[in-house]
Amino acid sequence: MNRLPSKIFIDGGSPTETKEASERRSVTLGFPLDGQTTNPTLIARNLVEKSGKLTEKDALAEYKRIVREMSSVIPGGSISIQVFADEKTSAGDMLEQARERNKWIPNASIKFPATHEGLKAAGKASLEMPINITLVFSQSQAAAVYEITRGAKYPIFISPFVGRLDDIGENGMEVVKNILNLYENGDGHVEVLTASVRNLDHILYALLLKSDIITIPFKIFQLWADENFRNPADDYLYNKPELRPIPYRADVKLGRDWQTYDLQHMLTDRGLVSFYKDWTSLF
Ligand code: G3P
Repeated sequence: MNRLPSKIFIDGGSPTETKEASERRSVTLGFPLDGQTTNPTLIARNLVEKSGKLTEKDALAEYKRIVREMSSVIPGGSISIQVFADEKTSAGDMLEQARERNKWIPNASIKFPATHEGLKAAGKASLEMPINITLVFSQSQAAAVYEITRGAKYPIFISPFVGRLDDIGENGMEVVKNILNLYENGDGHVEVLTASVRNLDHILYALLLKSDIITIPFKIFQLWADENFRNPADDYLYNKPELRPIPYRADVKLGRDWQTYDLQHMLTDRGLVSFYKDWTSLF
């Protein structure tokens, strides 16, 4: 069986799911998962089910324990660990958290939000460790990510959240398409990771577009595994007339100072608040 055009990650907060998904892929295709993404909400969900309320120190220790377990299941894969940030968190604070988390496991990729402070921290971090820019919803955020990480010494991922755009009636997959288009004549230093996947069509279209990576929640992963991890047919069409198109912006080009791109997106702000709230509600 040929490898797919995209690397496949699992999106979750439970090492048991990581194990099951990786075994299922190995049994069917002969190779394990390529990686794992986590976020504060997913980790908190797992901890609430298992432990209820915790102290802040214990919650962080649990996050570390969970990603260590995931790392031991897929030692050859990449494991995304997110920094905690709200709208007031400084770049310096995020960078400090990133350095600490990067010591947890040898295969960490540290997630920063696509905000001004998040990207400022990410630019510095890209010289020290693999990173993943999360809560991405627009082509101009992607241009800023590309520019701030030019000269990176480690792998850089960018995570457009397709499902959350679909949720507000916009065609999220078009952001993936637009970012791939924007990066087409670039130097290839940023890998596009399709995230916030809600259904099989997201997977099939991301494969067709050759998104570098797709991260998939366990339930959707199982549906896809039931179909033997199928590829899109030659005549596959991602047709979503019920979703508003997100057209490519020819005026948003690479090559400018990262700070000149518009980073504002309602869903980035909203996502930042809810990640933070879900995490702090643990203690
Ligand atoms: O890992 C982040 C991402 O995939 C979030 O997905 O379903 O909360 O929009 P979702």
